[in-house]
Amino acid sequence: RIAGPCSLVIFGVTGDLARRKLMPAVYDLANRGLLPPSFALVGFARRDWDDQDFGQIVHDAVRDHSRTPFREEVWERLSEGFRFVQGAFDDDAAFDQLSEVLAELDRQRGTDGNHAFYLSIPPGAFPTVCEQLQRSGLAEQTEEHWRRVVIEKPFGHDLRSAQELNAVVNRVFPEDAVFRIDHYLGKETVQNILALRFANQLFDPLWSSHYVDHVQITMAEDIGLGGRAGYYDGIGAARDVIQNHLLQLLALVAMEEPVSFEPKELQAEKIKVLSATRNVLPLELNTARGQYGPGWQGSTEVPGLVDEEGFAADSITETYAAIAVEVDSRRWAGVPFYLRTGKRLGRRVTEIAIVFKRAPHLPFDKTMTEELGENALVIRVQPDEGITLRFGSKVPGSSMQVRDVNMDFSYGQAFTESSPEAYERLILDVLLGEPSLFPVNDEVELSWKILDPVLEHWAASGRPDTYESGTWGPRSADEMMSRVGRTWRRP
Ligand code: BG6
Repeated sequence: RIAGPCSLVIFGVTGDLARRKLMPAVYDLANRGLLPPSFALVGFARRDWDDQDFGQIVHDAVRDHSRTPFREEVWERLSEGFRFVQGAFDDDAAFDQLSEVLAELDRQRGTDGNHAFYLSIPPGAFPTVCEQLQRSGLAEQTEEHWRRVVIEKPFGHDLRSAQELNAVVNRVFPEDAVFRIDHYLGKETVQNILALRFANQLFDPLWSSHYVDHVQITMAEDIGLGGRAGYYDGIGAARDVIQNHLLQLLALVAMEEPVSFEPKELQAEKIKVLSATRNVLPLELNTARGQYGPGWQGSTEVPGLVDEEGFAADSITETYAAIAVEVDSRRWAGVPFYLRTGKRLGRRVTEIAIVFKRAPHLPFDKTMTEELGENALVIRVQPDEGITLRFGSKVPGSSMQVRDVNMDFSYGQAFTESSPEAYERLILDVLLGEPSLFPVNDEVELSWKILDPVLEHWAASGRPDTYESGTWGPRSADEMMSRVGRTWRRP
């Protein structure tokens, strides 16, 4: 579906996200013919730019980061709708000017008064911008046009601040005009969880505590935090990734079949799971956190967090976090879900592993099954997108030796079309007014409810452990698993 006439206003247009993800995604959408001729992109920032400078910035961002090839005719048409408004977030005059620029675009380009405001800015600035949008009349909803606001995480830093933030946003925009970005939901492989579970007969009978021993959800990155102190210091891995991406993945894996794929029905099922999710206690045995120290990333020597630019020597920000939760439901009673994320780990990989119970009886000599592990279904979110089924198989030869093998589905082999970037899908959905892939406020608050006790526990327990860069995290994370006779997967 092609978006209707509208303009997209990006606040925080000089930031990293805008340059690396948002601008390239807008171009890719245009290149795929999914934006209307009556489309405008407006940048708002303090920087002393004019429309030309802004155009050049978008051009460079597109050149460096777009997924699809550069086509002059697409660029020409798109860039005619670029405008830049200079100002600070508390500057009335700048918002009045924004209002004029948008009205002029309505007349010149036929954007019809439909505006999406993308707040790619620190949450501390949300209230000011929302109030300015209201004051200047830009947030006003009518029968004739729509106004939507898109907000980037973090949605607060705990339950209370999330509630306050939400109250501020909802004073200006009704809930159905608020689009909260969790870009993991824009990923093809994440949407495929629903297809895998609800379009097939094969997996559902196994999808419960009868057959599942535990679930491991891993989001590992090899990059460090050089250059991101401003955002990350004091936030840490749990707030940055577990509160949003990993709990959303858990909700998709654990939820019941929705009545339909209507947004309300999907949300209702996710909300049910998140309401039933609780931490495995005691927290000191069932959580782990760490901060990367110096080490090696491949053949490059890398510094520890506290030696990265912008981090103080006594920073206690965690760069690795692991928690164990359970979902109190008939389907999942007693099945732990282990969630972990970290920077400067062995490699970049996001995966969901459903680890099955061992066969109740093995009619083999012990020596024959020494190399047999647990059966597992692994959803490879990225990179190398696909699904692996891991099971035991006879090793060719004269004796009955059994060893684990993999059966693989790979996107690259099964499909010729490449997957759109998450931000392409999500920006298009905002412009279409399609809310399925955006967490609603209840989901955000429930996620904080799960995480808050862990954060409080950590805040009261001193410094995080240190782990060597390029390894798989702190020793406490391994101990958390070995205590219950399990191990983390080495993806
Ligand atoms: C963001 C986090 O949400 O996701 C970053 O704030 C992280 O810290 C990023 O690097 C990873 O995204 P992706 O799509 O590369 O897994």
